[in-house]
Amino acid sequence: MYTIVQFSPTGNTAYLAGMLSEYLDVDRVNALEHTIPSKLKESEHLIILFAIHAFNAPKTVKRFVKGLPSDRFTKISLIAVGCNDKWLNCAASNEIRKILEKKAYQIVVDEIIAMPLTLIMSFPEEMISNLLMDARKRINKISIDIKNSIVSKKKLPFKSLLVNRVGRIEPFAARFFGLELYAKKSCIKCGLCVRECPESNIHMKDNGKIKFGFKCMMCMRCIYNCPTKSIIPRISKFIPIKNGYSIERYISGGAEND
Ligand SMILES: Cc1cc2nc3c(=O)[nH]c(=O)nc-3n(C[C@H](O)[C@H](O)[C@H](O)COP(=O)(O)O)c2cc1C
Ligand code: SF4
Ligand code: SF4
Repeated sequence: MYTIVQFSPTGNTAYLAGMLSEYLDVDRVNALEHTIPSKLKESEHLIILFAIHAFNAPKTVKRFVKGLPSDRFTKISLIAVGCNDKWLNCAASNEIRKILEKKAYQIVVDEIIAMPLTLIMSFPEEMISNLLMDARKRINKISIDIKNSIVSKKKLPFKSLLVNRVGRIEPFAARFFGLELYAKKSCIKCGLCVRECPESNIHMKDNGKIKFGFKCMMCMRCIYNCPTKSIIPRISKFIPIKNGYSIERYISGGAEND
């Protein structure tokens, strides 16, 4: 009845997608970057959750939506996950929504949920626990809306559309961030970063050296997930959070002990 697909470079969206799957009694959540849209099985309602990048859906999500056949689902819901749910992010799903409407899909839920910020700086502990509590309530409410096909009533102020337009420059700038990345000597050549980069931007040379290409989306996944913390940018050292980001730390309360 429901199909859930999530795009979550650093874990927040995957955490919410897991929660939603419990409320909707769905046993499987598909990682968007490993899913070929044309191979998804027919179902009544497709739910796409994605992390917001520069007030937009990331390019991996746009590509997925473009590749979605027009006759596979009856309804589609969109849940954009940012670090706030205010006007700045209001137009985040606008572009993919238009693509889906052109394919004659009916959009049911179109909502934004706030979760902790995953780059530059960590939010304070108290703010994070409040965000997580609110996010749980929002996911519960959204699951009820999805079950009852209650269409979201979303206002789209002009200023939201404006920042959304400006944000479309970011994917180009992000490519240069990728060129700055390198793996230190502590790299154990495990290949995790190569397998998990959503844009297939990382390669391992025959000698085991890690090489970054020009397709980066600045998602932070390789930096935070590397088991030896070997990946760092040469110049923009302020962009990744200093001690990394892990939603599991906050769920388990481990950050308090750091
Ligand atoms: C490159 C980049 C751009 C981002 N841009 C935004 C943004 O425009 N608005 C926002 O609220 N959060 C933004 N964020 C923060 C994340 O989208 C947000 O923390 C989200 O919860 C991360 O989800 P994930 O852990 O599933 O990747 C950005 C993060 C990255 C890495
Ligand atoms: S994830 Fe880290 S340790 Fe593993 S290959 Fe990549 S850089 Fe090396
Ligand atoms: S190279 Fe790293 S930061 Fe860039 S898209 Fe791939 S995983 Fe994300």
